[in-house]
This record gives sequence, structure tokens and C-alpha cells, in this order.
Amino acid sequence: MHVELSEALPALVALIEGHLLRERVEPVRTPLSPEALLERLDLALGEQGVPFGDVVEQLHEVLAVTPTTASDHFFNQLFGGRDGAAVVGEALAGVLNNSMYTYKVAGVHVLIELLLVKRMGALMGYDEPEGVFTPGGSLSNLAGMVMARNEAVPDLMDRGSDGRALRIYTSADSHYSIRKAASMLGIGRDNVVKVAVDERGRMVPEALTKAIAADRAAGHVPVMINATAGTTVLGAFDPLEPLADLAQREGIWLHVDAAYGGSMVFHPDFRAHFAGISRADSITWDAHKMMGVPLTCSVVLVRHKGHLTKHFNETADYLFQDDTDDLNPGTRSLQCGRRNDVLKLWTAWKTHGDEGYRRRVQVLRDNTLYAREIVEREPRLELVREPESLNLCFKVGGARADKLCTAMNRRGRAMVGHAFVDGEPVVRLVFLDPTLPRERIDAFFEALLLTAEEGELPEVSR
Ligand SMILES: Cc1ncc(COP(=O)(O)O)c(C=O)c1O
Repeated sequence: MHVELSEALPALVALIEGHLLRERVEPVRTPLSPEALLERLDLALGEQGVPFGDVVEQLHEVLAVTPTTASDHFFNQLFGGRDGAAVVGEALAGVLNNSMYTYKVAGVHVLIELLLVKRMGALMGYDEPEGVFTPGGSLSNLAGMVMARNEAVPDLMDRGSDGRALRIYTSADSHYSIRKAASMLGIGRDNVVKVAVDERGRMVPEALTKAIAADRAAGHVPVMINATAGTTVLGAFDPLEPLADLAQREGIWLHVDAAYGGSMVFHPDFRAHFAGISRADSITWDAHKMMGVPLTCSVVLVRHKGHLTKHFNETADYLFQDDTDDLNPGTRSLQCGRRNDVLKLWTAWKTHGDEGYRRRVQVLRDNTLYAREIVEREPRLELVREPESLNLCFKVGGARADKLCTAMNRRGRAMVGHAFVDGEPVVRLVFLDPTLPRERIDAFFEALLLTAEEGELPEVSR
């Protein structure tokens, strides 16, 4: 019926220690099929429970077959590495189990959230930001779109759509969450206008100007410009200043999806990319990407205080009973019950300071440039685009990138992802673990070339 945490703690420590040891000797898990996993593990739930000690044994087995996404062989997604300080904050949040809707039940953690919002907003140039943590960049983008839509059609919140087409403008290289949010909000995917990008993957403001003019002429309602600061594949930054000018001139909500690139704001070399962001109405920033905090840790920031409350507050006299709205973040959230994603970020940031994140960005950028040099030097590799930030996209002579990346994983050599640039598969390499030694980068390329030479690449399932 019940397991005391104090009694379970030694098991937890042993599980974590075992995992860390195994991760060192087996940094890539060769993938097993679902059938093989189900056969190997006793995952089924029964009418009767089993002793916790037996479950702990099974947990050891589960950990042993879990893909290793924090090892020094993982370059597959826009996160990587493991920050012990952040993990401590994450673990404590689970132990405390404060739901982040009211000051009454979350207390000091509400103050931590307010402090983080203020600090992150200030870094983006906001004077008096409002903000709330969400379960990821996709939902931060959704929140931005909800506010943009409701501001464009004020009656919509109560009466629903008046039948006019609501238009969202985003670059052809932007993240799929924009399309998804449009589909979820009844705006419709067809009303997401994909604006052309230049050769570096940045939105072309002139193309956007034309698209807006054509839509106005057709009687459509321009609702939101979504600019991306750090695109998913190329790591490109849309030109924010001209987009802010355009948004202001046209009276359209400007949202900046800085889910990925937001953390580069710590480094002075990249500040120019952020010029104009302080004029955005809302911003998405994921700390779980470049800041190395465990998933999920995303914030939606809003320039004008009051917008989140205006668009997300509902009366609930069984919940919001004490304290002001300011102290009850549930009044500005997409959610009701909400996990504490702020303690881990605060723990990490307090430990490393702004300076730590500045150095982190520097190391990550240096590693990207180091890898870029290897690609330039090696005749079998072809750079597809200059790396705008941290993403390195390249082709490998004689091997299709998608098949090659799959083979790298199946042969236990690395987890790295492919993407498509100009319709062609490319390797998209991202180094987001600042502790990665240079030898690992060398070893990655050696393994990649070896895999390409070996041939017989597996089919990619999708
Ligand atoms: C530019 C961009 N925006 C949004 C997202 C979605 O973030 P999340 O995975 O936290 O929902 C991603 C994810 O990679 C992204 O690259």
C-alpha cells in the first residue's frame, strides 16, 4: 500500500549510481525492438502488487535498456549532457510536490518563478515582464498564439470565430509547433503562411510584407508574426528588428520562438541576434535545451504585464481563495495543476551564475567551429550551410545521411539525427554538452566515416 521515501532512498541512490556507471561503459544503447523489450522485461501490471525490492530490481533492468540521452555520445536532439545541480532541483521538486497554481501551496516556489521571469525577461530587454513556465516550447508557442488571436479578435474568447480567416506568419524553417497550435486553436493549418527564408535560413521581411498585404486585400485577419531565434535545423535567427518594425506598423502581435536560441543571449557575441526582441509581445525560451536543465523547463514571457492574466484567467472559487493574482500563477497559466519546473533552473543558475552560462555558450560554439573545421578538411564531408549558431549540417559522400545516422545508432557508435535541407537529407550535428572533450568530437567523425565506408546501411523507418 505504501513505501516510505526514507526507506526507498538507498534504492534510489543505488539505481542512479548503477545508471551512471553503466552509461560510462555503454554510452550508446543499441536499440531493441518493442517486441524484444516486452519479452525481456516484466512490464505488465497485475491485480496483486509485488514487493518494492523486486520492483527496484526491475527498475535496474529498465534503466539498462533506456536510450542514453545524457551520455557523451548523444548529439541527436537540442539538449544534451547532465547538470548535477539542476538534477538536484528536479529531484527535490518531485519530493516536495507543490502544485504551482497558488501561493498557498507553492509558497517560496512562486517567488522563485517570479524572480526567474523577471530575470529572463530583463535579459530579453523587457522592463516589466509577465511570464509563466509551461510544459515545453510547443506550449509556450501555443500560449503566444492564444494571446495574439484573442487580441486580434477581441470577441473571440466569448463568442468564438466570426468566420474570417485568421492568419499566422512564420518562416518556412520554423518549428512544427506553430502549425500544430494553429490546428488546435481552430485557426487551421492552411492559415499558417510559410514565409520564404534566405540562404542562411532567416525569414525574409520583404516576403512577409507582401504576404500580409495580400491577406489584407483578401479580407483576412493578420494575427501573429512568429519569428524564430534559433531554428531547429539550421540554428538560424530571423531578423528581429525589421520584423518588429513590420509588426508595429501593421499592428500585429509579434511572438519570438527563442525556445532553442534564447540561451545564447548570455553571450555578448550573439547579442546582435537579439536586437529588437524587446519589442516582441511574447517570447518562448526553453531552459531545457541550451541551459542543460532536465526536461521540461520552458517559459513564455510577455512584454506587457496583464496579458497572460487577461487571456488565461478563469474564476475558480474552489482554488483561488487567498492572495493576489500576482502570487497565484494559476491565474496566468495554460494549466491548473502544474509541476514545479523552476526549482531546478534556479538551483542551476544560482550555482553557475550568468558567467557560467556565458562560458557554456562559448564552449558550445567553439566545439561547433572545431567540428566545422573537420568537415572543411575532410574531402568526404560537405558543409551544407555555415553554422549560424550551434547546428552543423553536412553531407557524407557516398552515404545518405538518414541511413547513416540510423546505422550509427544501430551499431552503437553515437546517437545523431538527420534533417532535410533543400529537400536533401543531411546530418544535423549539435553539441549541447559543454563537458564534451575534443577527442569525442574527433572520435565521432571517425566513427561516422567508418560507418559510411562499411556500407550496407539500414533502411530508415518513418
Ligand atoms: C525552434 C523550436 N521551437 C519550439 C520547439 C519545441 O520545444 P519543446 O520540445 O520544448 O516543445 C523546438 C524543439 O526543438 C524548437 O526547436
